[in-house]
Amino acid sequence: MIKVTNRIKGIIERDRKVFLTTTRGSIPFVASSGDGDFAYDIEGNRLIDFSSFISVYNLGVNSTDDARRAIKSQVDRLMHAAFTDYYSELPVSFGEDLLRMFPKGFGRIFLSNSGTEANEAAIKFSRIFTKRPYIISFYNAFHGRTMGSLGLTAAKSVHREHFGPFSGVIHAPYPYPYRCPFSHDHAECGMDYIEYLKDYVLSKEVSPEEVAAIFLEPVQGEGGYIVPPQNFVRELRKLATEHGILLVSDEVQAGYMRAGKFLALDNFGVAADIYTMAKSLGAGLPFGATVTRSSLGDIPAGAHANTFGGNLAAVAGAHAQLKYLEKNRQQLERQVSDKGRAILRRLMKMKDDYDIVGDVRGLGMMIGVELVKSKRGKEPAAKEQEQVIMDSFMNGLLLLPAGQSTIRIIPPITVSRENLEKGLDIFEKAVAKADKSLRHK
Ligand SMILES: Cc1ncc(COP(=O)(O)O)c(C=O)c1O
Repeated sequence: MIKVTNRIKGIIERDRKVFLTTTRGSIPFVASSGDGDFAYDIEGNRLIDFSSFISVYNLGVNSTDDARRAIKSQVDRLMHAAFTDYYSELPVSFGEDLLRMFPKGFGRIFLSNSGTEANEAAIKFSRIFTKRPYIISFYNAFHGRTMGSLGLTAAKSVHREHFGPFSGVIHAPYPYPYRCPFSHDHAECGMDYIEYLKDYVLSKEVSPEEVAAIFLEPVQGEGGYIVPPQNFVRELRKLATEHGILLVSDEVQAGYMRAGKFLALDNFGVAADIYTMAKSLGAGLPFGATVTRSSLGDIPAGAHANTFGGNLAAVAGAHAQLKYLEKNRQQLERQVSDKGRAILRRLMKMKDDYDIVGDVRGLGMMIGVELVKSKRGKEPAAKEQEQVIMDSFMNGLLLLPAGQSTIRIIPPITVSRENLEKGLDIFEKAVAKADKSLRHK
């Protein structure tokens, strides 16, 4: 059992006095160190990590040995090399290696420092490439919190309240098979959303010829770990191509092997025109990349840039980690597939056993468990979501929420089978307790 000491409470109190805003909830986790499958707090409490620290440590908490070594040695040579003004070789080598992970025909990269910045670049690039003004994104989407990407984000109104207006963005419904307003048939559900997009959004609100891009999370993350049907993504690709609209795949959370492939969109057998990545790409340091199809061409010098993109310490870690990933790609893909199936098996059994487990869904090791007050009513069990996360924490498991009442199951993909099962045991106990307390109300 985790002990929440006065020292821990004291730091949390001081934090609240100093910082303006965060999304931190009630989990009293004060991080100290991390290693592979585990995270440790300042009192030495050890927790199994099922959060990957918001999808940043896909290859293990605190990244790989190679990445840490590369960062340390680069720090002693030169950290910042003004990559938008001067040249350096390391980002060039990294870029060459990164492009090998993409489908044929992808040739240009813009480096930045976060997911939101990667998406801001994609917004600007799609507008300048097409000379069109509008962007379509989806409900439940999360693309970031700066003004451009926030315009695309539509997961919770609190993210947007008092920050608008946002211009040039139109939202469309993203298929949510568990709560589909159109149909109860999973296969049909994807096509219903395409029809809606054609018959309403592109017929009544905006002409397709004025749309620069459609931004898509191949699996929605913050919005609730929602997996779209295959036919939706494939038809969306066709629709975009038909009208000269660029498809942007936001791989910030779903990418980097999390959903079973380096690019999550590959699960749907289609390619985007622009990809954005961040989180795990940076091996623990701030990092973002926007990758475009070569055929889209270039943009004028000075049209877009930043100060820290291509920061050598960050690129050193990203490059070492990427080399590890490339070398072990097949083995990692197999691991994600095997462990992902093992997690789903356990969670599906829990769905049979507990009324509180409304839906279990995922791709690879990007898995969500949606909690509901009852299977019949499907009312989101938001309070219970918090309880389960807290209870799991107290018993040594780190989890994160998503959407209204979903819990993410996203351990590092390198997690051992033993720790995976141990973590799932802790999770199941917490779910059973929450289920029981709901039934006794
Ligand atoms: C899909 C997706 N896009 C963009 C972002 C924004 O990334 P960042 O917080 O690095 O700006 C996130 C963050 O959670 C995300 O999940």
